[in-house]
Amino acid sequence: MKLAISGKGGVGKTTLAALLAQAYAEAGRDVLAVDADPAPCLADALGFPDELQEKLHPISEMEELIEERTGAKPGTVGGFFTINPRVDDLPDRFSISHRGVRLLEMGAIDTGGTGCICPESAMLKTLFTHLLFRKDDVLILDMYAGVEHLGRATADFVDAMVVVVEPTRRSLSTAAQIKKLANDIGLARLWLVGNKVRDEQEAEFIERESPGIPVLGVLPATLAVQEADRLGEAVYDYVPEIKAAGLRIAKSINQLIEKQQTGKSA
Ligand SMILES: Nc1ncnc2c1ncn2[C@@H]1O[C@H](COP(=O)(O)OP(=O)(O)OP(=O)(O)O)[C@@H](O)[C@H]1O
Ligand SMILES: [Mg+2]
Repeated sequence: MKLAISGKGGVGKTTLAALLAQAYAEAGRDVLAVDADPAPCLADALGFPDELQEKLHPISEMEELIEERTGAKPGTVGGFFTINPRVDDLPDRFSISHRGVRLLEMGAIDTGGTGCICPESAMLKTLFTHLLFRKDDVLILDMYAGVEHLGRATADFVDAMVVVVEPTRRSLSTAAQIKKLANDIGLARLWLVGNKVRDEQEAEFIERESPGIPVLGVLPATLAVQEADRLGEAVYDYVPEIKAAGLRIAKSINQLIEKQQTGKSA
């Protein structure tokens, strides 16, 4: 099962990605979580201990590795380098694992404008595509805001994209943009998750204003989420009502995807 989590900045993508990863790991699944945000923070959300996090380095910052695999130093523009370097060993070599969740950090690329064609972007693109092809039991991609960076491969291999929204018009209009872009690349299966929902009215607002994306569930707003962050605890462990809501969402995703797969093979 491959899930991409997207949505406007700050809505709770990383929080949801961590909840789902932990829910599936606890159910005995083999989970690979990928932090594809240039400012990674999924390790914290998952409550990875500091001494373990010290061993985690974003792939984009591995200069020697990038040079070894692409044949050019990161930052090189122009010149020759391999655009499809070997990456198949990277997920196992550079991920760290905690309580059944394996985590890989992609890292940031200094594109110096748009559409950089440089060794490090070739490396990350190839790795991203490789992850989509791999047969991991559960792959969870914590994306950064928007879907401009999603290509055809994502549409072909991701089972679903989960769009996180707050009960605000702004985040719902980002969801509408994501839907349009997703349609353009042929990614049809989108689900909405409401976060920071304070009451029934806010839940209804999301349901009513959804740009035609089915709502899977909502996570309640609570200051305990920020408290967990300050304490370096995973929300999954620290906030029971969020854990419960996360487990319900994980379960419906699983059921919907199983149904889809049975439908396909029938
Ligand atoms: N249910 C909630 N109740 C209260 N605060 C929340 C809730 N969910 C997330 N937050 C807070 O909102 C902020 C953003 O959450 P998170 O990092 O998960 O969002 P994001 O979409 O991944 O952000 P970014 O776009 O920066 O990657 C954090 O400070 C987090 O503590
Ligand atoms: Mg995030």
